[in-house]
Amino acid sequence: MAKDSLTVKDNRTGKEYELPISDGTIKAMDLRQIKTGAEDFGIMTYDPAFMNTASTKSAITYLDGDKGILRYRGYPIEQLAEKCNYMEVSYLILYGELPNKAQYDQWVFDITHHTILHENIRHFMQNFRYDAHPMGMFISTVAALSTFYPEATKIADKELRTIQIQRLIAKVPTIAGFSYRHTRGLPHVYPDNALSYPGNFLNMMFKFTELRYEPNPVLERALDVLFILHADHEQNCSTNAMRAIGSSKVDPYSAMAGAAAALYGPLHGGANEEVLKMLAQIGDVKSIPAFLDKVKKGEGKLMGFGHRVYKNYDPRAKIIKKVAEDVFKVTGRNPLLDIALELESIALKEDYFISRKLYPNVDFYSGIIYQAMGLPVSFFPVMFAIPRTVGWLSQWQEMLGDEEQKIARPRQIYTGVDERDFAPMDKRK
Ligand code: ACO
Repeated sequence: MAKDSLTVKDNRTGKEYELPISDGTIKAMDLRQIKTGAEDFGIMTYDPAFMNTASTKSAITYLDGDKGILRYRGYPIEQLAEKCNYMEVSYLILYGELPNKAQYDQWVFDITHHTILHENIRHFMQNFRYDAHPMGMFISTVAALSTFYPEATKIADKELRTIQIQRLIAKVPTIAGFSYRHTRGLPHVYPDNALSYPGNFLNMMFKFTELRYEPNPVLERALDVLFILHADHEQNCSTNAMRAIGSSKVDPYSAMAGAAAALYGPLHGGANEEVLKMLAQIGDVKSIPAFLDKVKKGEGKLMGFGHRVYKNYDPRAKIIKKVAEDVFKVTGRNPLLDIALELESIALKEDYFISRKLYPNVDFYSGIIYQAMGLPVSFFPVMFAIPRTVGWLSQWQEMLGDEEQKIARPRQIYTGVDERDFAPMDKRK
């Protein structure tokens, strides 16, 4: 009997099966041979919400939730956040290696030469309602881009794929900027390609009447670090959506609109919006114990805490705390920070949170920083979607090149009524 195997005995039939173990997993399809008879479909696994199912092999991001480790292509997130900019990291995530000088210059050139949106897209965005949620505008506009680039459907063509990837990475800050200006009733600001990726984003958000916008270097760097921290996070909800939608071989704009929609939800990218609402609701430090009592009774959640994978301090949350200090030196301290710090310190001592291994996640502090930078709460999920674009696209491309992948199509356990005969309307109850 092979050592790397699992022996399964089916007590219904008394038969034993030997299933190979590789990378700590058994193949779900290997269970199909376990049957009670020729008519039996075979054993399936039941795993709602993918609690214990690896849906893919991936070489992009390594995450150890128990130890609080996050690495992109092998590099610890702490080193990348300290030493790199987002452009280098996005190249790394996409191509697997950090760029040398020539590759970096070319990459920056390629991205900055796709930042402009077609004027029709700008007009399209002008037609959103004055108070449209920026994430709704973001999702719809990304989807609308597919109609501008019909060649994007040729996803097997590597060159065409590369152009769409460059377009999306380049255009998401422009879409974000336009959606923000729309909600404020301000004229759209066109990209300034002499600025860095985060610097240009700040320009498209905050430029007023000055001839040339000059981003504050501390805020520009803070944004770069936040973008690095959000660039990829293996098989999270929105990435899983990107892969699942992309597995139907649709164009990347349509698939990415779906991924961004998944990110919009309050349990995922919408969490930092919820954190801010929660902090504002708590109002002051004195009200924290009463709030936590409610959480412990199951009357609401401590938003920004807990994670499906991290059962330890989210390494990104540690880095973000430091970024917050830098930002507040420029913007002034966000008063909600005191509530957040106290909330964290109390929660980390409470048995409810300790026993469930609930620690602050990346979103616990990111919203406080964005608010201090002058961004409205509704804009926070967009701040997540911009850098996650490279993660989605890298995972999508990896999925397309993976010969083991097919259209994503889970099984179900049918729990509805058994076959019955049609009843005409006058006979129905
Ligand atoms: N506050 C209070 N209790 C919580 C929290 C929380 N934030 N998160 C989990 N719990 C409790 C659950 O009620 C459950 O308790 P029980 O065992 O008594 O029923 C236990 O901890 C386990 O929680 P699950 O919901 O099973 O954990 P799951 O892995 O499904 O959920 C999730 C992870 C969705 C992130 C959850 O922790 C949560 O809702 N957190 C708040 C929202 C949030 O911050 N989301 C951002 C995630 S990070 C990101 O997307 C970038």
